Amino acid sequence: MNTIWLLALALLGYVAFTVIYRLYFHPLSKFPGPKIAAVTTLYNAYHDVVRGGQYVWVVEEMHRQYGPIVRTRPDTIHVNDHKFVETLYTQSPKMRRERFYTLLYTMQDHGSMLSTRDHDLHRRRRAALNPYFSHANVRRLEPVINDTLANLLHRMEGWAREGKPVGMNVAFRAATKDVIQAYAFGEAERCLDMEDCNAAFFDIMIPQSSFHMGTHFRSLMLFMANLPLAVMQLLVPRIAVFAGFMKELYARIDGIRDAKEDPEGKTIFHELVKSDMPLSEKTTKRLGDEAMVMLIAGTDTTASTLAAIMYHLLADPKLLGRLRKELETAIPDVNTLPTASKLDELPLLNAIIREALRLYPGATHRQDRLAPDEDLIYQRPSDGKIFTIPAGTGVGMTAPLLNRHSDVYAQPDDFLPERYLENPALQKHLFTFSKGTRQCLGMHLAYQELQTFIAGIFRKYDVYDPTKTEQDGPTLELFETTRADVAMAADCINIVQYKGSQGVRIVIRH
Ligand code: HEM
Repeated sequence: MNTIWLLALALLGYVAFTVIYRLYFHPLSKFPGPKIAAVTTLYNAYHDVVRGGQYVWVVEEMHRQYGPIVRTRPDTIHVNDHKFVETLYTQSPKMRRERFYTLLYTMQDHGSMLSTRDHDLHRRRRAALNPYFSHANVRRLEPVINDTLANLLHRMEGWAREGKPVGMNVAFRAATKDVIQAYAFGEAERCLDMEDCNAAFFDIMIPQSSFHMGTHFRSLMLFMANLPLAVMQLLVPRIAVFAGFMKELYARIDGIRDAKEDPEGKTIFHELVKSDMPLSEKTTKRLGDEAMVMLIAGTDTTASTLAAIMYHLLADPKLLGRLRKELETAIPDVNTLPTASKLDELPLLNAIIREALRLYPGATHRQDRLAPDEDLIYQRPSDGKIFTIPAGTGVGMTAPLLNRHSDVYAQPDDFLPERYLENPALQKHLFTFSKGTRQCLGMHLAYQELQTFIAGIFRKYDVYDPTKTEQDGPTLELFETTRADVAMAADCINIVQYKGSQGVRIVIRH
């Protein structure tokens, strides 16, 4: 009995000491923010794990109440001010920026560049991949992207014949995965060739609050990840399916290593396996993990942006009419596929894409970084007060908040592509792909996919006009879809809509 009391007392003492330390003596104790967030990470865990990706909105409210710099966790600062972007996400390769543990824990012991904490190791891993995703090399992927567009348009014709409403989110996921898979590995099963567009596979990746579990309950997640597959299958079938996907990727890397001949054309992993990278960087586990990030990061993000653009164009026939005029000039023959370089010159198409990227960022998580070698200085504009963020502290900024900042964007919650036509300089503020040395590797690819798919679909299809007895050509009509079906309701690393949303559904008519 005495021992239990002693233990309880010790625990109480520890909790009391931690609370007092964090509130009054911690290096971040002078930063503004609610006391509960300064005292425990459980506050963040509650809003992200229990309430499902809601902490982003709690942080937004903190900024409203406490200003542009707040303490969101005992050890983490969040800044909502565009002027701080260049300091935190510096492009200078000489200034080290490491990934903070929050996202690292989510990804656990992963060999990918995305989950590499160390600045120098990240630079080396990134340097090996950068050339494949340069603007020029992505341009060379035009045949692959156009081939996928042709496949998608072909599927849409089939769905038109069936006459039933079609969920476009899964169709877009299939299209974007087909593109990156072809680039990564050359051959692959194409999702768009499958009856259900590989919906069962995408189901396991649908962003949900469990994505936050690793950040808050790391040991539990590590324990789960190391269970035998059969046990996992029983406990969490979803994780087991994912483990199966990883096993397949590792087998694919081994297959490339053992293959006598390479496929025609450039593929990322054939080249990486044969490259002169150190052997420790070319293990099956590491390259398989890199492939996984590429396939996942390159799929849902771009697909959700495509769905958002489709919604807005079909909900606003005038906007679509203007876009179709622009597309008719750039692609005079409706039966030819778009030329990527021509699409760069279309102001409205690009303004629509930028506005969708701004308002519906595919990656919604806090971009937590740390500067290991220097204190970061932030000056609060309202009163000029200087905040010194000690070296090694986690500091983050977040696309869903920064992209809607009223200092930069008028009517920030409205979908107004015009803002980019009136002020093209606005595009430099877009935080959707993050900034600095760890910004999105695939942003040129994503952008080219967005241009090509939107141009290809809407050069062919007009919006259905219920007042006409006969339409002038093939049409699309929204089916039981509202703006809430594309708007961000939660941050589960990726954008998540309200519970029960079925995404963008349309009826296709020929
Ligand atoms: C609209 C589509 C996309 C959005 C919004 C997006 C967003 C982002 C963001 C915000 C990051 C930084 C994450 C962080 O540091 O925590 C990132 C990183 C990354 N993205 Fe994308 N992404 C998109 C498309 C793609 C595509 C098509 C690929 C295909 C290769 C890709 C591959 C990657 C990779 C490999 C990283 C890790 C980069 C690094 O750690 O250096 N992304 N992306």
